[in-house]
Amino acid sequence: VTGTGTDVGKTYVSGLMVKKLRERGLGAGYYKPALSGAETLPGEPDKIIAGDAWRVAAASGLDRDPNSLVSYIYKIPASPHLASRLEGRPIEMERLLADFAAFRERFEFLTVEGSGGIVCPFHMDEEEVNGRGRLMLTDVISAFGLDVLIVADSGLGAINAVTLTAEYARAKGITAKGIIFNRYEESNFIHSDNVRAVEALTGIPVIARVPGGASDLGVDGDYLAGFYGRGNA
Ligand SMILES: Nc1ncnc2c1ncn2[C@@H]1O[C@H](COP(=O)(O)OP(=O)(O)OP(=O)(O)O)[C@@H](O)[C@H]1O
Ligand SMILES: [Mg+2]
Repeated sequence: VTGTGTDVGKTYVSGLMVKKLRERGLGAGYYKPALSGAETLPGEPDKIIAGDAWRVAAASGLDRDPNSLVSYIYKIPASPHLASRLEGRPIEMERLLADFAAFRERFEFLTVEGSGGIVCPFHMDEEEVNGRGRLMLTDVISAFGLDVLIVADSGLGAINAVTLTAEYARAKGITAKGIIFNRYEESNFIHSDNVRAVEALTGIPVIARVPGGASDLGVDGDYLAGFYGRGNA
C-alpha cells in the first residue's frame, strides 16, 4: 500500500483491508518495513510505539504485538533515510528481506504499508551500508516482488498526485493494480469527477472509495482478496 504522500490514509485504509480479509476468514497480516515518528508513552520515553501497526491491529483485530510488525522504528518524524541516519540505525535490505520472508510465510494475505509517498529514500548515498549506497522504497517494493495499491485523498489535487504516483511507479517497473480514494464524499462533484479522471489518465481502476470515519472498506472480501498475489487482479 503506497500513497500520494504522507498522511493520506495508507494506515487507515490498510486497517480496513486487513479487517475485511479477516472477516472473510482469510489469514491476513500486516507489515511495515520502516516507520518514523514513533510515539512514546507519557512519562516513558523508552517505550516507543509503532503507531501505524497499533492502529491497524486495533482496526482489524490482529492480535500480534504491533511493534513486531515493523522492521525499523524511529522516533524522529523525518523521512526514513534521515531518521535512520540521525538515530544511527541504518536500514539494511538483508534485514527487510528476511523479515518480509518470515511474514509472508506466516500470513497468506499480507498487507505491506510503505512510508510516505512512492518517492521515499530509505538510505541516501552519503554513507555506505553493507557496500551499498542509495536505497529507495521502490527498490524494496521491487525486491519484495510486490505490486502496489495507491491511496489518495479524494479531493482537489488528486488528478495530479495520483497520475504522478502511477507514472513514477510505472517508470520503476512497478505495477499499480488499483487506486483507493480516501475521505470520499458521495455528493462531492469534484470527488466523483476525480474518479473518472484518474481512471482515464492512468488506466488504473479506482477499486474502493472510503468515506471519512469509515469502519468498512466498502468492497467485497473476495474482490479485495483478488488483489493479493502477483498478476491476479
Ligand atoms: N477515512 C478516514 N476517516 C477518518 N480519519 C482518517 C481517514 N483516513 C485517515 N484518517 C486519519 O488521518 C490521519 C492520517 O492517516 P494515516 O495515518 O492513515 O496516513 P498515512 O498515509 O498512513 O501516513 P504515514 O505516511 O505517516 O504512514 C490519521 O490520524 C488517520 O486516523
Ligand atoms: Mg501510515
